[in-house]
Order: sequence, then structure tokens, then C-alpha cells
Amino acid sequence: MTSSSVTSSSKRIVVLTGAGISKESGLDTFRDADGIWSQVSLEEVATPEGFRRDPVKVQAFYNARRRQLQDQAVKPNLAHRALGRLHRALGEEMLLVTQNIDDLHERGGAGPVLHMHGELLRARCLACRADSVWTADIDSASRCSRCSSTGQLRPHVVWFGEMPLEMERIYGALADCDLFVSIGTSGNVYPAAGFVAEAREAGAHTLELNLEPSEGATLFAEKRYGPASELVPLWVEEVLAETGVAG
Ligand code: APR
Ligand code: ZN
Repeated sequence: MTSSSVTSSSKRIVVLTGAGISKESGLDTFRDADGIWSQVSLEEVATPEGFRRDPVKVQAFYNARRRQLQDQAVKPNLAHRALGRLHRALGEEMLLVTQNIDDLHERGGAGPVLHMHGELLRARCLACRADSVWTADIDSASRCSRCSSTGQLRPHVVWFGEMPLEMERIYGALADCDLFVSIGTSGNVYPAAGFVAEAREAGAHTLELNLEPSEGATLFAEKRYGPASELVPLWVEEVLAETGVAG
């Protein structure tokens, strides 16, 4: 079966993206040979325990990534832009869920994007729980714009052992979709790695677009392998042609 099972009447699509879609924009993935987790221990910088143990180290890890994301060399690539076109064309019929904390989907014209692992350009206040846009470094002098407390901000990023965001909304969309497409994720981390099974359960067609087979590759009805900047624009043009919607 190909994604042509998406006809003009049923074009409810859930797209899940991972770090692989941002690789060609110059952002490292996590589990590739040169990935982030080969350079730094995730236990030390991406867990609540690591933050309690050494908040300065954790803030420095995210400050460096926040600065890198805002470097003008880091731009949305052809895959982000193609998904932005599809998102604008399909509107409510498409839910774009990303595990990524970068803003490249938004800068590529998509929106609103569901960041299930949070966002690098937002900070969360430990005192009042509010999260807000934050593009500077976070340190002990950083002040919450809502409650004015200082030194109480952490990255608005979901760490291992914490609950990802908006899970009910995601499961509701998976139960109701006709097509689930996974792009640039290794399928190593739950609950995102379980989304394909949820979609199959709902009778949706499932498609994996990745550089190489993910952990969950056998669960996908259709798979295409190659760089996202090549595969995603081709797939988006297919869907726009099949659904007869101008992209
Ligand atoms: N095009 C498409 N896919 C690519 C490309 C590319 N140019 N380059 C790499 N990939 C693929 C890799 O083959 C791999 O399968 O992207 C995937 C990246 O996998 P991971 O590094 O594990 O990243 P991801 O799946 O997003 O990790 C999920 O784990 O560490 C946590 O919170 C973190 O959100 C992250 C989550
Ligand atoms: Zn506050």
C-alpha cells in the first residue's frame, strides 16, 4: 500500500518528527555515531536528578544549544519547509508532533507545532510553574517574568523520567488518523516510539521516512530511506496532489 490511501475525503494525518529532520540544518542528532549522547552523558544533563546534582552543568548544556539554535547558520531545511507547506494546506487535518526542541518547524512555515519534549527557546519557572519565551542564557540571576523570582528558571524541556507534553491530545489524534508518518527518529524513546502501533490499531496507513531503518521499522506498512531533505518534499508533493489541495 502506498500513502495514496490518503484520499481527498480522509486526509487526517499525524506527522511525528525527530532529530534526524534537523540534522541537515546543522543540529546534531542524539544516537548517531557523532550524536549528542556520544559527547555528554544524558543522565547528567537530561534528567531531574542531573539537574538537582549540578544545575550549573545542565544550564550550560542547554545555554550552548540555545545559542547554537539562534546562530544564523542554523536554518530550516527543505524538509521543514515542505512540512510547513503541507501544514498550511491541510490546517486542522494535520497534527505535527515533534520530539525536537528546536524551532525549525515554525521557521519553516509550520504551526502550531506540538513540542512533546518541550522547547529550547522557552523557560519554566520552578516557583510559579509558568513557562515563557526565553532566548538568552538561563543562570542563577535569571528572573521569572510572571512571579519575579530569580534563580528559579529551568529549560522548558522534558527530561528522561518526566511526562512528555500533551499526550492526551496526541493519542486522540492517533486514534482518529488515516495516515501516520514518522520522520527522522530512531524509535528508541517512548512514548513516541509507540505511536506507530497506536496508529496501526486505529487502521491508519503508516509510513517511515528516515535515513536508515528505525527500531520500529517492521511496524511500518511503508518505508522510504534517505535524507529528509530529499524524501520529505517528494512525499509532500504526492500528498498535495492526491488530496487535491494547493500547497
Ligand atoms: N534525514 C533523515 N533521517 C536522519 C538524517 C537525515 N538527514 N540524519 C539522521 N537521521 C536519522 C537517524 O538515522 C536516526 O534514526 O534520525 C534518527 C535520529 O535518532 P535519534 O538521534 O535517536 O533522535 P530522536 O529519535 O529524535 O531521539 C528521540 O530521545 O534523547 C531523547 O529527547 C531526546 O527527543 C529526543 C528523543
Ligand atoms: Zn515564576
